[in-house]
Amino acid sequence: MTIARITFSAAEARRPSARTLRRVRSAMAHDGAAAFDGLFPMSLLKKLRAEVLLRHESGELRERGLVRDIAGRYAALVPFEGPFLNPAFYANPALHAMLESLLGADYCIGSLETVVAMPGALRQHQHIDGPIRFDRRVGGKTTAYAGDLSALAPYAVTLCIPLCDVDESNGPTAIWTGSHRAALRARPPGGRQVAREFPVERMVGRLGRSFFFDFRVFHGGEPNFSREPRPVLMFVFTRSWYRDPNLADVFPSVVITKRNLNRVPAARRGLFMLAPAARLSRWVNKLE
Ligand SMILES: [Fe+2]
Repeated sequence: MTIARITFSAAEARRPSARTLRRVRSAMAHDGAAAFDGLFPMSLLKKLRAEVLLRHESGELRERGLVRDIAGRYAALVPFEGPFLNPAFYANPALHAMLESLLGADYCIGSLETVVAMPGALRQHQHIDGPIRFDRRVGGKTTAYAGDLSALAPYAVTLCIPLCDVDESNGPTAIWTGSHRAALRARPPGGRQVAREFPVERMVGRLGRSFFFDFRVFHGGEPNFSREPRPVLMFVFTRSWYRDPNLADVFPSVVITKRNLNRVPAARRGLFMLAPAARLSRWVNKLE
């Protein structure tokens, strides 16, 4: 069994058919992942790549990084400016239609990060990005929620957009397909159990391929044996009520100026609801 690959023609990228949306939904339900070709125009991808590489080479991204070193790779938020402010990126029509079908109409941007795996980066540990738990603690004893959460709809989805060709040698993301259904068990499975129960797939492809993965699916970055850094974008979308626990200590988690937010088409401004520029300011004089 392999992860579904959906190719967008120019017409489908403008307006995906109901059949395509059904395919995406069923792939996400079955595997917790789906891959795309042609979702973004190549000219846009090249601009995004150039911007990330510029900020990487200047050292700015590492300096402002969220995580400075995960086995030789670092992660940093990317501001919505320059090519990232192009609605063809953040409000891409096919992407928007797919996210509405997975997360409901009021979904929002959780974060936009880049992860740069440097030459020599080692294998990243297998993990999920953000569990939701309904545990209780009474008298010092923790009790897990006993109900079946395996069919729960997704609450957060990452679109991974590699900014280079990715093959087996330069650090593809490994995904244990279908493992999202096990992540919220009363006792989540350990690494060996995941590897036994679920087939692994490495997300390789030329520049132009991107893929969705559910926050609950077990995954990890593979080693980068090449001589080049391997940059990817991790564009996180969530239901309006979900907050990414990885960013609990980061402010802001969505970076856009007031001026740039005003340039976002009104119908898509809600995507940026977590940005400080979109929020009411009260008592800010009490924060210093
Ligand atoms: Fe991750």
